[in-house]
Amino acid sequence: MYWLRSFGLLLFSFHIHAARIPLVSQCSEVSFRLAAVAENVVWSPEPDLNDEGAILDFYYGGFSGTGPPVVGTETLRQNLTIEGMYCRPAVENQLGVLQVLVHGISYNKTMWSGLGFGGQYDWHAYANNQGYHTLAIDRVAHGTSTEFPDPLEVVQGPMIVETLHQVIAHARTQPDGPLQRTFDKVAIVAHSYGGWVATGLAIQHPDAVDALVLTGFSNTPNHTVLATSKMRSAAMLSPERFSHLPLGYITTEEQGEREANFYHPGGYDTAIPLIDYEYQDTWSIGQTGNLDFAATSPVDYRGHYTWRLERCEEILRDTRDFYPNVSRFGYFAPENTGHALTLHYTAALTARAVHDFLLSYFTESE
Ligand SMILES: *[C@@H]1O[C@H](CO)[C@@H](O)[C@H](O)[C@H]1NC(C)=O
Ligand SMILES: *[C@@H]1O[C@H](CO)[C@@H](O)[C@H](O)[C@H]1NC(C)=O
Ligand SMILES: *[C@@H]1O[C@H](CO)[C@@H](O)[C@H](O)[C@H]1NC(C)=O
Ligand SMILES: *[C@@H]1O[C@H](CO)[C@@H](O)[C@H](O)[C@H]1NC(C)=O
Repeated sequence: MYWLRSFGLLLFSFHIHAARIPLVSQCSEVSFRLAAVAENVVWSPEPDLNDEGAILDFYYGGFSGTGPPVVGTETLRQNLTIEGMYCRPAVENQLGVLQVLVHGISYNKTMWSGLGFGGQYDWHAYANNQGYHTLAIDRVAHGTSTEFPDPLEVVQGPMIVETLHQVIAHARTQPDGPLQRTFDKVAIVAHSYGGWVATGLAIQHPDAVDALVLTGFSNTPNHTVLATSKMRSAAMLSPERFSHLPLGYITTEEQGEREANFYHPGGYDTAIPLIDYEYQDTWSIGQTGNLDFAATSPVDYRGHYTWRLERCEEILRDTRDFYPNVSRFGYFAPENTGHALTLHYTAALTARAVHDFLLSYFTESE
């Protein structure tokens, strides 16, 4: 199980703070205007992006090996705006760490506020109460974004990695940028596909972040659920919400199937998966089509790496080998918890395990 090497004195002082002062964090919407350059992959033949059937054939074909092959790469330049929710703690801890929260597929930045359920599902609140700053971003073409670039050619892992890299660079270097201050230390907390993005960042820019927390992720992912679940073009499934999206933005078709895939029986409030489905976000076929951008070990990444998953301790332990040069590794496998682990009854346990880890790591590396 998850372990701690040493217990910092700081921990106790934070707890005293937490007990004495009613802490309220302050959150605001922020926007990062970026000029991203990325090396995306090219498939041939490309599917007809006006034909939902062809789009879904491409999607499923990518998992079964019957889709078109990757024939090369191309350098893409794209101006993009990344929207975020930035929350400041009422009482900052001495570590000065920014947590950048990266959502999974078919979610957006509101997953870190518990999809509106708040309370124990609100990662910002937990982290802010421990004195951390949090920035939850909408990845390209999610959430409150109004930009929907070509879902095959443009919205792929390498481009998403580059936008994350630039957001972090802003946070580190621009005192007059959207956050109105700079941070020396940055930790990524990522869910599911966000873990691919974080790993891609550790490969491309090993010094960009100090710590990675990857939830619902491993180096031996099981793609069966993605490969067999029913998907639709979002604009066809929910025209009232998504008619403005190109058909190459897809999402999950069935509420019950989504619930079975993302939630562990008995481990959650049954009101949550209904809202989770009704307000689900989308993703581009370029994202799931190209997962290889994060397939090699980030051998130059030396920060601290930890991650959590819903089960399978052996897989968790072995994931250490994928990050050979990290100075510290830990994992946590909460009981009775499915893939959407911050939306289960164990959410606060998970948050505590992660924050214990971050605290001891950053305290030791002071
Ligand atoms: C991005 O914006 C800059 C500044 O407005 C502009 O010069 C450039 O042509 C834009 N690039 C693309 C690829 O649209
Ligand atoms: C992958 O997931 C599917 C569906 O959950 C499961 O039936 C299968 O056993 C898993 N495969 C492995 C190798 O774990
Ligand atoms: C982002 O997620 C929230 C919560 O699930 C949802 O209400 C909102 O509609 C989503 N935005 C998009 C564009 O899907
Ligand atoms: C760790 O990093 C060094 C320097 O970049 C590299 O030479 C070495 O191969 C890496 N270790 C592993 C196990 O990959």
